Amino acid sequence: MPVEETETEVILTHPKDASTKVSILKYGATITSWKNQGDEKLWLSKAAKLDGSKPVRGGVPLVFPCFGKCKDESNPAYKLPQHGFARNSTWEFLGQTTEDPLTVQFGLGPEQVDEELYKLWNDGLYDFTLILSITLGDNYLKTNIEVENTGDKDFKFNWLFHTYFNVPDITDIIVNNLTDAKCYDQLIGETYEEKAPMISFTEEFDRIYQGIDTQKTFQMIELGKVVMNVQRENLPDTVVWNPWIKKSEGMADFEPKKGYMNMLCIEPGHVAEFKNLKSGEKWSGAQILSTGGEIKVQTNI
Ligand code: BG6
Repeated sequence: MPVEETETEVILTHPKDASTKVSILKYGATITSWKNQGDEKLWLSKAAKLDGSKPVRGGVPLVFPCFGKCKDESNPAYKLPQHGFARNSTWEFLGQTTEDPLTVQFGLGPEQVDEELYKLWNDGLYDFTLILSITLGDNYLKTNIEVENTGDKDFKFNWLFHTYFNVPDITDIIVNNLTDAKCYDQLIGETYEEKAPMISFTEEFDRIYQGIDTQKTFQMIELGKVVMNVQRENLPDTVVWNPWIKKSEGMADFEPKKGYMNMLCIEPGHVAEFKNLKSGEKWSGAQILSTGGEIKVQTNI
């Protein structure tokens, strides 16, 4: 069966290849596993809570309507917890929409969000519908989000796919095509232009790359071989994060403690600025992850 639904999750199996699968937890509509021809592409902490008590540490958590902790008191998202409420709400499974490629949808509206939590966003006066479409292809996984403002008030939001990749050894990984991008380094609180031709990882890393042409593909290259391509639609920003030793020690749900060596977050989103959405309007953005291919250097787009 290409689509199996249990009480807590939905599992997609590629119709032509049973070793290509994706598992989605209804809690957070969090993708917890993507096996491509038997190979796990996503990192999931061994201590991740999968019972709805806490956002999942790993996979692809969804960030909405604010990225991080909103520091602007005048922003209606100010009282919300870090990364908002989409990752800690149980989404409704809407079913399969296409057979080839295999696509399913999940939906979230105010009625699925914990009441107390929802009230923290402008006293619960906004109305919205989120539709997440997940497509499992031969060698790709696409996640598309549509945000609709179904209320009578305009609102502003951030969106981000907080994707945790599984890597054999982070020190063997480089990521390309971020050269010349404007970047806010969250660790030092400074904005500068990325000058490195490729970024590599030997310590804690937490940068928000901003306003990057969506024709650019980020490639994760392991010892000279492309292991992942990250493409975006309508998502201008990308956060790159690795907590390294100290930060991961401080996270109770991060296991094994040496797991920072086996993960890298590349998180396409719309986070450098809030997106304004007028009453009745829709907005969408997507992340497309694919395996293999040649190294492609895209400098001057
Ligand atoms: C990243 C942020 O996107 O998420 C980091 O850039 C943050 O600053 C990380 O630490 C994890 O956040 P959380 O809330 O899942 O611990």
